[in-house]
Amino acid sequence: MTNLSQQLEILFPAEDQIPEEFRIEALHQRDYLVDGEIRQWDGPTQEVVSPIFVQTPAGLVRKVIGSYPLPVDDNEALDALDAAVRAFDSGRGAWPTMSVTDRIECMERFVGKMMEQKKAVVNLLMWEIGKTLADSIKEFDRTVQYIYDTIDAFKDVDRAGSRFRIEEGIIGQIRRSPLGVVLCMGPFNYPLNETYTTLIPAILMGNTVLFKPPKHGTLLHHPLLDAFRTSFPKGVVNTVYGRGATVVPTLMKSGKINVLALIGSSRVADSLKKMHPKSNRLRAVLSLDAKNAAIILPDADIELTVKECMLGAMSFNGQRCTALKILWVHRSVADVFLQRMGEELNKLKPGMPWSQGAQVTPLPEPGKPAYLDACLRDAEAKGARIMNEGGGTTVESFVFPALVYPVKDGMKLYREEQFGPVVPVVPFDDIDEPIAYIIDADHGQQVSIFGSESEPLARLIDPLVNQVSRVNINAQCQRGPDTFPFTGRKDSAEGTLSVEDALRSFSIRTVVATKDTAQNKTILNDIVEQHQSEFLSTKFIF
Ligand code: G3H
Repeated sequence: MTNLSQQLEILFPAEDQIPEEFRIEALHQRDYLVDGEIRQWDGPTQEVVSPIFVQTPAGLVRKVIGSYPLPVDDNEALDALDAAVRAFDSGRGAWPTMSVTDRIECMERFVGKMMEQKKAVVNLLMWEIGKTLADSIKEFDRTVQYIYDTIDAFKDVDRAGSRFRIEEGIIGQIRRSPLGVVLCMGPFNYPLNETYTTLIPAILMGNTVLFKPPKHGTLLHHPLLDAFRTSFPKGVVNTVYGRGATVVPTLMKSGKINVLALIGSSRVADSLKKMHPKSNRLRAVLSLDAKNAAIILPDADIELTVKECMLGAMSFNGQRCTALKILWVHRSVADVFLQRMGEELNKLKPGMPWSQGAQVTPLPEPGKPAYLDACLRDAEAKGARIMNEGGGTTVESFVFPALVYPVKDGMKLYREEQFGPVVPVVPFDDIDEPIAYIIDADHGQQVSIFGSESEPLARLIDPLVNQVSRVNINAQCQRGPDTFPFTGRKDSAEGTLSVEDALRSFSIRTVVATKDTAQNKTILNDIVEQHQSEFLSTKFIF
């Protein structure tokens, strides 16, 4: 066993070494939310194991942190679907017809109750997916902020729709209306934030929702179930548990899902969309695979580039859809860049999620260490080397970050989205090489370009903006700020998410129009003055 292996191994705590405030009582969830009721489950369950191992007399053992319902058939999912369909009631339900002010009030009630659960959710984030304490708190706070920003943006949308337009002799009022039943599924790496970036705007726009938590990151939603139940009319939010591979196809094949909101893999999205019997009735809001590249030009400021590449490639162990997953470096600066990246990678501090300053934490996907190891062995067999001492050292769920060079076409790391702490570096001589790589890629989310002179950067911007959806100059790739559009081309996304764009994604512009005649004007005036309609109204929300 190497020194580093030993160091990693002893980071896993014995039970009594876990700080008291972060200890976890196993949470055996038996309740779930359907049709406004918290129902009790007495069938089979799925055991939840943490990425964190504990020291025992028998060696390292993965900590069991609870369990959740795992229905063997689709009956519960179909019950949830029926509840959502009933609550929407073809657009006549209490929720889709509720006034905007009242819907906002429900959402504000929810977020107030959500904040009471912060401690429980943050602790579960650490235990379920191994996210550091600081990042778990950030994920929670960012989500709360996202909800408040969404409420503000919703008010703006409503204000914009609160006036009539008169054009070509037609008077019209244009507002956004809900689409129906939305199936929301988020990813394990941001199980709270990314799930809620679809769930919250979908609800606020008047849709009803089926919400299936991710496989890793299920329990952390449990403390919030009652907040949903007590904040919204029955059937607006319904949870779905069970094996995704069987339950979700059943929901899609029913033809009753109007919007598929999935943050996950393009392969899954592709097959689910095809299952809907009326494909034109289905809207998809998808955030999918990505293999964001960095392009490092000969005149790049190496210190700044290394700092951003470290953040871009290593935050949350590289488990971000926006992570930098391949670095193209000009051959003239490759040595100095590799030297500095290697040094910085080896300064990263491994630790438990709650340990002060921990930067490398255990990985939640049980198969991931073996997959990353296979990527490293494949690269080595084809001529690459691990450039940092101890890179790739693995102890159970811990994988120490590896810098791999020179990566080339034909290696797994060249095209596969590693989604973990491995940094492939490709040297280039001609700028057309990274551009050709991005053009040939199946992904098209973002790119980072590093350089000091404006002219070479400008020459890169124009071809790249038509390949990806965000070009970052001298900065890592990232989703935020949440008010910026977040999307991608090719297999990376469908639709756009941001505070404002998400409200659009989960609604459709709808017009009430009439000819500009005296009689019609009287009718419109009567409806508005006597508040006879929620849609046709000039009420202005302050
Ligand atoms: O996993 C993908 C996330 O949307 C990335 O968000 O760039 O803010 O970490 P982030």
